[in-house]
Amino acid sequence: MHITELHPGTEHELVLQAEDERTGYRGIVAIHNTRLGPACGGTRLWRYDSDAAALADALRLSRAMSYKAAAAGLPMGGGKSVIIADHTNPSREDLFRAHGRFVEHLGGRYITAEDVGTSYEDMAIVRRETRHVAGLRDPSPFTARGVFRALQAAARWRWGTDDLRNRTLALQGCGNVGAALARMLQDAGARLLVADVDEPRARNIARPGFDQVIPPQAIATLPADGFVPCALGGVLNAVSIPQLQCQIVVGAANNQLALPADADRLAARGILYGPDYIANAGGVIDGARYLFGWTEERNRTTIDAIYDTMLEIFANAERLGITPAAAADRLAESRLGGGA
Ligand code: NAI
Repeated sequence: MHITELHPGTEHELVLQAEDERTGYRGIVAIHNTRLGPACGGTRLWRYDSDAAALADALRLSRAMSYKAAAAGLPMGGGKSVIIADHTNPSREDLFRAHGRFVEHLGGRYITAEDVGTSYEDMAIVRRETRHVAGLRDPSPFTARGVFRALQAAARWRWGTDDLRNRTLALQGCGNVGAALARMLQDAGARLLVADVDEPRARNIARPGFDQVIPPQAIATLPADGFVPCALGGVLNAVSIPQLQCQIVVGAANNQLALPADADRLAARGILYGPDYIANAGGVIDGARYLFGWTEERNRTTIDAIYDTMLEIFANAERLGITPAAAADRLAESRLGGGA
């Protein structure tokens, strides 16, 4: 395997590109910040338009991981890897074994897990080459639990109570996280409006006579107490925000804000936004459990503390006259030593 160091700027501690001639594997590991602990972050398998696009993705995602881990109070830093998929790819076994050797080369400075395009089953293959891999079980139920706690925090801040009984929540995306979250919200007494481009998924979740299945194009803008994006990024944008008819937005989807300025647009409309990377940190926390040998109980307590972090962010935002998104970044940056 041929490994080269890339020098894309000063923000990242180390960026390596690997090529394995025997299998045709090509990948990048970006380590953003290890001030708080080893750089952790998933492996994305994607068909990129160019190597530059793959590098940009690795840089952006590893930085986001530093922020997510720091804000969650975890003793770990931010990293990410991408596998550059193309039509010549070897078997999944060869691909992930090669990736495992690349991760092993970093000697524990970078710890990987699953991400878009990879599964925890793939991580079991990576593990044959390196022990520096977490994410050996489905993180979705843990992510869902964290989002549930974040929703409770937003409810407390906005309505003065954690109680979600009889609140109407519009859930966009009924996949792994959305479906698990829906069950928790139903148990808590919320009334759900649910939508998925794969409509049977939404129908599976909706309780007849109580919840309602909604066409995907309408879910974000229906009158509801809260909007819960659990599908795609970029759903909060200059077009959608003026049409929202809810008081809170909290969900699992990554990169919900199309642009940083969309946080200001939400605030100007008086809509409380619970920053995505605070709300959806449950899966990463579950990975930390594996790395640091935490008990299930400690895992649960740490995920449940997303509630306190979210309230702290809302309070800081109010005190400083900034958006919750900006307050979340400040919290993360203060833990990263301001150098991130
Ligand atoms: P998933 O792929 O299982 O579910 C996504 C669902 O959204 C699918 O059912 C899909 O059909 C639906 N969907 C796609 N476009 C849609 C649209 N325009 N309108 C309505 N529904 C649409 O993904 P998963 O794992 O549930 O993740 C959901 C989101 O949360 C993603 O943005 C993911 O990046 C993020 N996330 C997930 C974590 C996890 O532990 N799985 C951790 C942190 C973030």
